[in-house]
Amino acid sequence: MDKDKYYITTPIYYPSGKWHIGTCYTTIICDALARFKRLDGYDVFFLTGTDEHGQKIQKAAQAAGKSEKEYLDNIVGQLRNLWQVLGISYDKFIRTTDEYHKRAVQKIFTALYEKGDIYKNEYEGWYCVPCESFWTKSQLVDGKCPDCGREVQLTKEESYFFRLSKYQKVIEKLLEDNPTFLMPRSRQNEMINNFIKPGLQDLCVSRTTFDWGVQVPFDTKHVVYVWLDALFNYATALGYMGDDDSLFRKYWPADVHMMAKEIIRFHSIIWPAFLTALDLPLPGKVFGHGWIMFGSDKMSKSKGNVVDPFILSDRYGADALRYYILRVVPFGQDGVYSNEMFVKTRNSDLANTLGNLVSRTLAMVNQYFGQVPAPCEDEGTDAELKELNMRLYDKVAALMDEPDVSGAMDAIWEVLHRANKYIDECEPWALAKDESKRTRLSGVLYNLVETIRRVAVLLQAFMPGTAAKILTSLGIKDGELSGFASLKKWGAMPAGGKVVKGEPLFARLDINKELKELDAIAASVEVKGDVKGADNGEDKRAEKAEGVITVDSINIEDFEKIDLRVGTVVDSKRVEKTDKLLCSQIDLGEGKPRTVVSGIAKYYAPEDIIGKQVIVVANLKPVKLRGILSEGMVLCASDAEGNLTLITPSKGIASGSEVR
Ligand code: MSP
Repeated sequence: MDKDKYYITTPIYYPSGKWHIGTCYTTIICDALARFKRLDGYDVFFLTGTDEHGQKIQKAAQAAGKSEKEYLDNIVGQLRNLWQVLGISYDKFIRTTDEYHKRAVQKIFTALYEKGDIYKNEYEGWYCVPCESFWTKSQLVDGKCPDCGREVQLTKEESYFFRLSKYQKVIEKLLEDNPTFLMPRSRQNEMINNFIKPGLQDLCVSRTTFDWGVQVPFDTKHVVYVWLDALFNYATALGYMGDDDSLFRKYWPADVHMMAKEIIRFHSIIWPAFLTALDLPLPGKVFGHGWIMFGSDKMSKSKGNVVDPFILSDRYGADALRYYILRVVPFGQDGVYSNEMFVKTRNSDLANTLGNLVSRTLAMVNQYFGQVPAPCEDEGTDAELKELNMRLYDKVAALMDEPDVSGAMDAIWEVLHRANKYIDECEPWALAKDESKRTRLSGVLYNLVETIRRVAVLLQAFMPGTAAKILTSLGIKDGELSGFASLKKWGAMPAGGKVVKGEPLFARLDINKELKELDAIAASVEVKGDVKGADNGEDKRAEKAEGVITVDSINIEDFEKIDLRVGTVVDSKRVEKTDKLLCSQIDLGEGKPRTVVSGIAKYYAPEDIIGKQVIVVANLKPVKLRGILSEGMVLCASDAEGNLTLITPSKGIASGSEVR
């Protein structure tokens, strides 16, 4: 029998600025869902990618002084890198600049035109470039974009229109008759009241004022509206309107389109209308989760209040970041990120609750038995621990179906807490002192090992690296003991096998030290002015928060506080266990060179900078980075994608010269 299929998608992201942990949110959620369904026996297809056309991208490339292709290849490469670092198990990465996608969009546009669902007229209204959205005057809020609050442009141009109004009834019925189509449910009322009840208006689906897009094949001065182009990625990625549509026939329609709440209008109204016009089946579910916030604001490329996922996963492990996103942010609601919360949670939930449970259990197994001991008859709270374990798979599976990913993680951590309490209740160290209690000791440790195995089996979906480490410590290789089927009965873990305690899964961190170092890294890697990224720069609001760079005006007295000096690099080495940091000895004419750690190792080899003159912030408070006391900061310029280049004097000058 064929396995059930499960097709899940992330939005395709705009490569218009720095990638951040907000960008990672949906992708990590989808990855956990995809991995869970695969482990659960489904035939999964997991799609992600990038949305590369439109005015916003064209402007971003221009701002970076690059051709669109050059700009996009670089930033999309960084995104693919990020997904690799985070262990994202996508089956396909689509770029809307892929030729097959562009050809398919042209065919789709033509088909809709030939059906009479697209017609030509003139558009007059308001356009929000960052959201790539059209608005009527009455929809604006205080004259600004109702979605993002930014300036809109009055636009008047000849355009093609899609007859969205024709599908009013279809969409109304879809949302009213299918309470689980758009989730969470609160979003449904928002769509009905704000957009459907006032009446759907035909949608402008082409632009003529710029050319970075898919050309309308029968009227080449038009490019296809970026949202039509983008939404169809979900179908073209599977070969719809392409040379081979076998994947499309197998996986269509999508089971879940996952995204944050700001783009559900496109997915729950416009997208089903497009699909209905082409007689295609509609997706099973559109889920609009909340935002990762920084303070009271959404973390976003254009607001500049972004946290770098590369830094977090490099220092703390990809699974620590996955954990934060999957558990700490309540699924469906907005959740705040702070470095402090991140580091504290890593200590409490990962180092303590999970890591300690595993390390102390394995240490006791080795110390008292040297192998996995045999189970014994139930006593004390054994039955309670087992029952909680036995209910866990069903509970997690039901929550993943909803989906409620943080709820599923809560359920797993409930078992981990119970297991830690079980150790305190049973006091194996006391049992070990009494030879007559050896059978009981054996049973207690067996129950703990089996609990850890069962949790690790489930964790493969959420924290794959950590789960693999635990299973390896238990001597379990891929196979039956790591499959979901092994959770059906209690006691699949065989007695007699060897376990290996290994390195701690998550070493405990000194919170204050970490917070200082994170701030210092943010200050050394980021360069003031970068906050606008490659976005259109319309939104100049910037927030003060940890790990965030802000652009405020300063007066001359402020500037004079900074002691900038010319330094000559006399030596430089890579800092061990990081691919970002160089540790350099810089002569500032002080008799003894200073040690300066800087985040430039991706752009310069140590030997490239020896002998170079650089500009150093000489009166920056020294800070320890990776255990090295850094006594200043080297200035770099950063382009829109965060590429760094050192600032150097145009002519040689004495080391220590003042920069004014
Ligand atoms: N290109 C469109 C989507 C087209 S899909 C056919 C787009 N791109 S985007 O780059 O702006 O990405 C928006 C999506 O990124 C959100 O819907 C969400 O999935 C994710 N997120 C970006 N910032 C986020 C947070 N701060 N918090 C949570 N998710 C975030 O819109």
